[in-house]
Amino acid sequence: MATHNATDYKNQNHLVQKATFSKMVSGLDIKPGFRCLDVGCGPGNFTKLLVDLVGKNGYILGIDPDEDRISLAKETNSHISNLDFLCISGGHLPTDLPKFDVVYSSSVLHWMTDEEKWETFQRIFRLMKPGGTFAFVTVLELPYAIKEVFRYVEDRRTVPHFLYTEFPSVLKYKQKLAEYGFEVVDIQALEHASVFHTTEQFLSWLTATMHTEINLGELCQKHKIDLKIQTNKHGECTLNVPRIWAYAKKPNALF
Ligand SMILES: C[S@@+](CC[C@H](N)C(=O)[O-])C[C@H]1O[C@@H](n2cnc3c(N)ncnc32)[C@H](O)[C@@H]1O
Repeated sequence: MATHNATDYKNQNHLVQKATFSKMVSGLDIKPGFRCLDVGCGPGNFTKLLVDLVGKNGYILGIDPDEDRISLAKETNSHISNLDFLCISGGHLPTDLPKFDVVYSSSVLHWMTDEEKWETFQRIFRLMKPGGTFAFVTVLELPYAIKEVFRYVEDRRTVPHFLYTEFPSVLKYKQKLAEYGFEVVDIQALEHASVFHTTEQFLSWLTATMHTEINLGELCQKHKIDLKIQTNKHGECTLNVPRIWAYAKKPNALF
């Protein structure tokens, strides 16, 4: 049974993750009949958006290690016969599945340790059809506001490891993709802005997206944390996040 946390995330992910997902997918030429794999699909509400593109002869598989999000994805999409979900992490992707035309991962890779990222890349390569596309968008650098909130959390085991680590550079991603056989079509770092109506809305999105039970509002008050979030004339808060956007191909067989 899906939990409050999974539903919370599903209700909040339009605030940030929807825009990045849509931008990434707009660069993919998804055709009827395609088989697509969504690595780190969360509650599946965006995975489902591709069902119309692949049509009834296509197929989509979403994978995520979060049991509650996968339960929610299964519960809400059980009526769609060509959409499946599997509770598994990227580093454990089975490589004996029928091959995919498109594999993508939206707002996920920064959740993995570097070791798991590169393992996932190798597995994805093996799962792709020759000529298939792999696309991803991931965080390049955490914004000040997010790092600042979590600096005050005493028990680091309660928050994701990546809050205290550095992410690989564009060059590193490029090297790793090439090393595993991909042909890099396009990879770039671009800042993307997300707008929240209030600071509370930002904190509530952050709580849901980070899977945390910590009351971030109370934490900010207690430590008088200044999030230094830009506010526009309507009182809305803007969060600028540098991200990496990448498209790579599995080369067609030479003979
Ligand atoms: C910010 S959410 C993005 C979810 C979805 N792609 C979206 O755009 O709403 C990050 C997701 O990555 C998943 N995740 C974390 N570690 C992972 C791993 N090792 N392999 C695959 N997914 C992972 C989390 O469970 C979470 O659902």
